[in-house]
Amino acid sequence: MRTREVIIGAIVGSVLLFVVGIVIGHYAIPKSTDESKSNVAYLNTECTTTTYDAEWDTYRNKYLQEAVESSCNKATCNTEDLPRTYISYHLNGKSIDIDGQLDDPAWLEVPWTDSFMDIRGPEYPKPYFDTKVKVRWDNERLYVGARMEETHFWGNITEDESLVWTENAFEVYVVPDGSLHNYKELQISVMNVTWDLMLKKAYIDFGTPCDKSEAFDSSWNSDMRKATFTDGIVNDINSTGTFWSAEWSFSFERLAQHTDRPAGKLKPDENEAWFFIFARPEYKYKVVNGKYVKDESAPTEWWSWQPLYTVNLHLPSRFGLVQFKKKMNDKTFKWEKWHLYRALFEVFEAEHKYKSINGMFIDDMSQLQLAPKIMSTSCVDLSVTLGDGNFTVTAISKLDSNLPQAHIRDDRYVWFTDRV
Ligand SMILES: *[C@@H]1O[C@H](CO)[C@@H](O)[C@H](O)[C@H]1NC(C)=O
Ligand SMILES: *[C@@H]1O[C@H](CO)[C@@H](O)[C@H](O)[C@H]1NC(C)=O
Ligand SMILES: *[C@@H]1O[C@H](CO)[C@@H](O)[C@H](O)[C@H]1NC(C)=O
Ligand SMILES: *[C@@H]1O[C@H](CO)[C@@H](O)[C@H](O)[C@H]1NC(C)=O
Repeated sequence: MRTREVIIGAIVGSVLLFVVGIVIGHYAIPKSTDESKSNVAYLNTECTTTTYDAEWDTYRNKYLQEAVESSCNKATCNTEDLPRTYISYHLNGKSIDIDGQLDDPAWLEVPWTDSFMDIRGPEYPKPYFDTKVKVRWDNERLYVGARMEETHFWGNITEDESLVWTENAFEVYVVPDGSLHNYKELQISVMNVTWDLMLKKAYIDFGTPCDKSEAFDSSWNSDMRKATFTDGIVNDINSTGTFWSAEWSFSFERLAQHTDRPAGKLKPDENEAWFFIFARPEYKYKVVNGKYVKDESAPTEWWSWQPLYTVNLHLPSRFGLVQFKKKMNDKTFKWEKWHLYRALFEVFEAEHKYKSINGMFIDDMSQLQLAPKIMSTSCVDLSVTLGDGNFTVTAISKLDSNLPQAHIRDDRYVWFTDRV
């Protein structure tokens, strides 16, 4: 009798725990369907909070761990902690025919980027479809070619300037002036439908709360030339293939609009490096009545060139870097400003984390848990100036006295001033 009660009690208890577990799980697990850009507190694009979440901590802790283990020295300050890099070569008189196929000699002679990975980082599963990009430039335009493995081609959005990223698409975010503000976002779907817009700054940098409509400007127009190619028929369930490609170009004149680039310098100088992210959302489909239908209940994959360590593309200080070169035999990414950016980003992220815990920014950098190598001052001299609810970090290079002072503001805006 006693034994039976105990067993029944145990069964009832297990069932209850199981149900409670499911309910908790339901609310605790972030859903990564098409809400994936907005469902994690810190990441939200709805501008309701700037809480720095667990993923942010993971990123910081991992960075600090690595930072403690290495020491800063002048020889490596410009290469340590680099995100992924790519060298884009000038067309040097060649041309690219925008027909969706990346078969022009100008494409064939340059390498691909590294394959995309899960946007949350290399410790997440490797994407089951490969994605690679090439980038070239001439005096007027930037050329981007993307190759995406895919077996089933489908899409429903037919109007440009709509939410193209809610279907399988390829995206480019580009920062033409290094300020991390007024960056441009370009999306293209397998249906050859596009959206181009300008982000005045990342959503999170509007503070709490912000008006989302203030964040982006969809009236900005890239004057793009575009084409797509698929090796299967789009929206035909009986046709499968192996990949699709997007071939795209944009004028530097439009990309530079609303940026800090001076009028005479709309295209990059040789060896200038720009922050870029390339990314690809991959949605699952169902077949209903002989037609493809987006499977709204399945999780979305977000694959990107450089991982941003969280499911949010709007973190331009975590983008990868593309360097513009003319000489095809110059294969080394080498950017003299990186040590300044790296130090500014480190203090920027640490200040925001500090504020999420303590409710304010602080000018005493010893309170910020900065990586020792950043604090060691062998590469840069750093200082923080506080205003009323804002901050400015200043970095002065100790590697190169010709470099101007670099600054980052609490809303991620970066600028350089000439040293006096
Ligand atoms: C895509 O759109 C461009 C510009 O409207 C057009 O030139 C091209 O032929 C279209 N189709 C494909 C499959 O690329
Ligand atoms: C696909 O194949 C099935 C079976 O052969 C056929 O009934 C259907 O019409 C085909 N669908 C399309 C879109 O061609
Ligand atoms: C296409 O979009 C329309 C309008 O949102 C929707 O009613 C329809 O179900 C969609 N079709 C597919 C195949 O997803
Ligand atoms: C920062 O705060 C100070 C007041 O302490 C103010 O004068 C300044 O304009 C603020 N800067 C920005 C960019 O908001």
